[in-house]
Amino acid sequence: MKPYVICHMMSALDGRSLTDNWDRPLKKAAGELYEKTAKDFKGDAWICGRVTMQEIAHGDDYPKGLAKAPIPRTDHFAVRDADQYAVSIDPHGKVAWKKNTALDSHVVEVLTEGVPDDYLAYLQSIQVSYIFGGKSEIDLAHVIDVLQRELGTERLIVEGGPHVSGAFVNAGLVDEVSVLILPLVDGRSDHPGSFEIPMQAWKKPAYLTLSSAEPQPDGAVWLRYRVSETQHAPVP
Ligand SMILES: NC(=O)c1ccc[n+]([C@@H]2O[C@H](COP(=O)([O-])OP(=O)(O)OC[C@H]3O[C@@H](n4cnc5c(N)ncnc54)[C@H](OP(=O)(O)O)[C@@H]3O)[C@@H](O)[C@H]2O)c1
Repeated sequence: MKPYVICHMMSALDGRSLTDNWDRPLKKAAGELYEKTAKDFKGDAWICGRVTMQEIAHGDDYPKGLAKAPIPRTDHFAVRDADQYAVSIDPHGKVAWKKNTALDSHVVEVLTEGVPDDYLAYLQSIQVSYIFGGKSEIDLAHVIDVLQRELGTERLIVEGGPHVSGAFVNAGLVDEVSVLILPLVDGRSDHPGSFEIPMQAWKKPAYLTLSSAEPQPDGAVWLRYRVSETQHAPVP
């Protein structure tokens, strides 16, 4: 059995999911509500894409020259008994972590085999764990399988950004979709929705069944859906 995967996002009423240029009080309240509702899921691990993790890591670069010899492309676990793991989908090894925790969770980098040896040496030096998701592309099903087998993660929360959330849904790995709808229309046509899937990779819509709709303070609404088992015939 694969782990249970919940995808948790927040957006404006029109689905747009970037909060820059929103009023400070709304942005702050939305962030707090997002974290509070995320905690309700009691995940063993939360997963974010490289762009979102760079915002969390706050590191600009990592030291070069640490690798004195080629480093084998084998998974490396610096910690196996963390209360929670922060899983970073970072195919090219770009996130410059300063320490091995993110928001109190132990960091696990998900890489491809083409990353520089120096990056692996750097992660080892600060005791960040890493796993290989594929040779040149990341196979998300393989990643959650390794996390389950090696670290015992049975409940995973995908927390964006939109491209990683879209990739998990498109791969058919998500059991539940959770969205916090915030009381504003954003309207910026070039801003992403909560789930972004490149057209060349898109397979089909994910059909959902509503499981709860809870009004939240200050006009937000928390919607939770199960991903339907039903296969719908595509509309011509
Ligand atoms: N509204 C919300 O709930 C919410 C939640 C979280 C974050 N955010 C916001 O979302 C923004 C970032 O979103 P984003 O969509 O641009 O970035 P993202 O999803 O955080 O990261 C995207 C990057 O992750 C890597 N990646 C994603 N899917 C992959 C796959 N299937 N295989 C291999 N690598 C994959 C790629 O890295 P490379 O480019 O290095 O190849 C890709 O560019 C931030 O501003 C953040 O604040 C919003």
